[in-house]
Amino acid sequence: MLKRCLANLLENAIKYGTSAKVVVEDHADRLQISILDQGPGLPVYQLSRVFEPFYRVEGSRNRDTGGTGLGLAIAKNVAELHGGRIELRNRPEGALAVILVLPC
Ligand SMILES: Nc1ncnc2c1ncn2[C@@H]1O[C@H](COP(=O)(O)OP(=O)(O)OP(=O)(O)O)[C@@H](O)[C@H]1O
Ligand SMILES: [Mg+2]
Repeated sequence: MLKRCLANLLENAIKYGTSAKVVVEDHADRLQISILDQGPGLPVYQLSRVFEPFYRVEGSRNRDTGGTGLGLAIAKNVAELHGGRIELRNRPEGALAVILVLPC
């Protein structure tokens, strides 16, 4: 399940943000995996909506990206089943940081 979760996040970074840089931090209380892309990021009001099943940001519908809008909903579920969470943050340069936090 965790493999599926990470694959969904990495696929998004490459599809919508051109590339994926992965930073793994092994903290005393948690494992934190950050996926940093080079795309446009997301408008603030979309940051929670994109976790809804079948929700795709306007624009990705018309692009040839072919997704169903389930990837993030599944990834969030997997993270929560492991007692963790996923955070989305726009970085100063506009690109998205997707952070998977798992308790140790
Ligand atoms: N790294 C990202 N940068 C910008 N937008 C993103 C990023 N990741 C996801 N999104 C937006 O969030 C929407 C929902 O993502 P999600 O992974 O749930 O579905 P999908 O990629 O459209 O389809 P699926 O993953 O089911 O093939 C995407 O359609 C896209 O608009
Ligand atoms: Mg996806």
